[in-house]
Amino acid sequence: MDQHCKNILQTAVSEKILWDYPLKSFTTFRIGGPAAAIVRVKDAAELQRVLQFIADYALPWRVIGKGSNLLVDDSGFQGVVLILTGGFADITWKGVENRILEAGAGCSNWIVTAFCIQHGLSGFEFCAGIPGTIGGTVTMNAGAWGASIGEILESVDVMTAEGMGRYTADILEFSYRKTSGLPEQGVITAARLHLKTDTREHVKKRCEDLLKKRKTAQPAGLPNGGSVFKNPEGDSAGRLIDSCGLKGLRIGNAQVSEKHANFIINRGGATASDVTALIARIQERVRVETGVQLELEVRFLC
Ligand code: EPU
Repeated sequence: MDQHCKNILQTAVSEKILWDYPLKSFTTFRIGGPAAAIVRVKDAAELQRVLQFIADYALPWRVIGKGSNLLVDDSGFQGVVLILTGGFADITWKGVENRILEAGAGCSNWIVTAFCIQHGLSGFEFCAGIPGTIGGTVTMNAGAWGASIGEILESVDVMTAEGMGRYTADILEFSYRKTSGLPEQGVITAARLHLKTDTREHVKKRCEDLLKKRKTAQPAGLPNGGSVFKNPEGDSAGRLIDSCGLKGLRIGNAQVSEKHANFIINRGGATASDVTALIARIQERVRVETGVQLELEVRFLC
């Protein structure tokens, strides 16, 4: 991006843009080269200006949330990375009457979980511990414990270069780790969720129980990108990889978790090529030994 472009883009937002800045600190894998620009956007007006700029200059771009489930290439991303902050992290409970919680797309699932506990709101417990933002959770129709976000979604707001639109859940399609029907060149800015009321203690207990289960089954502590592969129909990717004896398999500093075989751990200084080589090795072994072709859940940014 030339200096003229940089100047225009900087005038669109109030926060200082990070130019040629490593993305590794913005991903849970702690892997990835620099993005041409990392732009933190704090409200709808800023976002509209940035999207307009991106459209005018036909620049590649991507929104990232908490950078979970994301593998950024070692050479980085020659485009604009958007991060929603400020007013995009607001949460409002619309009251007992309509039972709708509105959460900005930049809200982390942790914050929404804490809000639900504090206000005695039930229905979001399954998201406790899913390490992403509401925007990412909706995009991926993320879920756990047999539930996914699509089941409690009332509507989603999406901003494009043309303006803001509201998409009600009945016109969207929710499948395993995928929400379809939203504009491809848009940014999810908020989601409204159907919730119920309950006592704080009950909501808290359910969240804590699920977090405990998650902690027992999944690695915590070392950086990772969440589930690497989607579960094949009727089976578990973790079980299949484990059955091939691949736990602990290491390439460079990337290693198949000893705790849950569908997680790849960054042992410190792992590169995206370590991870992709390990992914290829796992897919090959599982295909040869079980006949199953594992599909990626982790998304790439390159
Ligand atoms: N298993 C093994 N070895 C392993 C891992 C699992 O044998 O290394 C077995 C378990 O013993 C169990 C079965 O495989 O019998 C299923 O494992 P688990 O209960 O851990 O669930 P999962 O199918 O691996 C899914 C989601 C998780 C979600 C959990 C809990 C996918 C790919 N994974 O895991 O979601 O947290 O259920 O609901 O859909 C994610 O999508 O990023 C994610 C973490």
